[in-house]
Amino acid sequence: MRAKTAAKFKELFGDGAYMYTSPGRINLIGEHTDYNGGFVFPGAVDKGIVAAIKPNGTDRVRAFALDLNDSAEFGLREEDKPAQSWAHYIFGVCREMQKRGVDVKGFDTTFAGDVPLGAGMSSSAALESTYAFALNELFGGNIDKFELARVGQKTEHNYCGVNCGIMDQFASVFGKEGCLMRLDCRSMEFEYFPFHPKGYKLVLLDSVVKHELVGSPYNDRRASCERVAKVLGQEFLRGATMEQLDAVKEQISDEDYRRARYVIGEEQRVLTVCDALQRDDYETVGKCMYQTHWGMSKDYEVSCEELDFLATVAEECGVTGSRIMGGGFGGCTINLVKDELYDNFVATAKRRFAEKYGHEPKVYPVVISDGSRRLE
Ligand code: GLA
Repeated sequence: MRAKTAAKFKELFGDGAYMYTSPGRINLIGEHTDYNGGFVFPGAVDKGIVAAIKPNGTDRVRAFALDLNDSAEFGLREEDKPAQSWAHYIFGVCREMQKRGVDVKGFDTTFAGDVPLGAGMSSSAALESTYAFALNELFGGNIDKFELARVGQKTEHNYCGVNCGIMDQFASVFGKEGCLMRLDCRSMEFEYFPFHPKGYKLVLLDSVVKHELVGSPYNDRRASCERVAKVLGQEFLRGATMEQLDAVKEQISDEDYRRARYVIGEEQRVLTVCDALQRDDYETVGKCMYQTHWGMSKDYEVSCEELDFLATVAEECGVTGSRIMGGGFGGCTINLVKDELYDNFVATAKRRFAEKYGHEPKVYPVVISDGSRRLE
């Protein structure tokens, strides 16, 4: 991927490009908690975006997306927003960096990725983080890593129409090999947690069902949570209890009630999981994962038939924990599987899924890796 990105740059723009990369992410638990000021527990993966970049001495950006075989050219003022939706990510990052005082000028760039699109592994955050990190270095910015993550998040809000939380961009920028990160999305304090579950594997099963996050459903979930927080007189749902929620049940819609019930449960589960990991208690971790799955399916309503099926097959195969991962509306399940059950589980899930839906799920073993960086 790196060689092909560099070669394309050379072909289109000549020598002297700098190479940067940022990863996608997994999340062990803590879904839809980030924009509620709660906890998340992600880690960066060994799949990401690689970009070749070089300032070109003009005030225009010329970009080429290898995977789409498409190019875009645009200026750096607000009114220069390009037509192609993939280019909005790069344009948005340029604009957000400028808003933070970085003197972004024109550049040439090619990029490619191997984060599966629509799998819930944050290919878009990987793209944003790659450019935020690179532009900061190449145009003498002095932006710290938290703010680089916010550049990506604000790009989503202001240029891509998704009111996402901070988890994906944070994980992409801060990732560390072999470590998950527990982030408190209210205080932005975080801790690295070495994660090497002995006797278990983490594997993703990608249903290859895609439901775009852009547009209303994700933003609707967030709006539900904000309405309930407001009724509770809080900035975020974080910290609310089930008793408090029940006390306002009559003042909110049944749908908002169920959304909030999921979030309140999920916040507790992240802490339970971290605690269980300290004791190597993977049974508890797995139980929480299943609870998250069915909470996301029944209360938060961001799952789909195919992912419910994968979680059910996992349970039937004796898998310790399985759940839908990421924003939802398609994508992957993340599975915590005992070594001795792994082969049978993967084979069974493939076969049964194919029987029902006509294609196999894709299988991605998880390798927890480093965050945004320049490639020498
Ligand atoms: C998407 C968003 C994140 C987070 C997850 C759900 O990945 O980008 O901010 O809300 O969904 O946990």
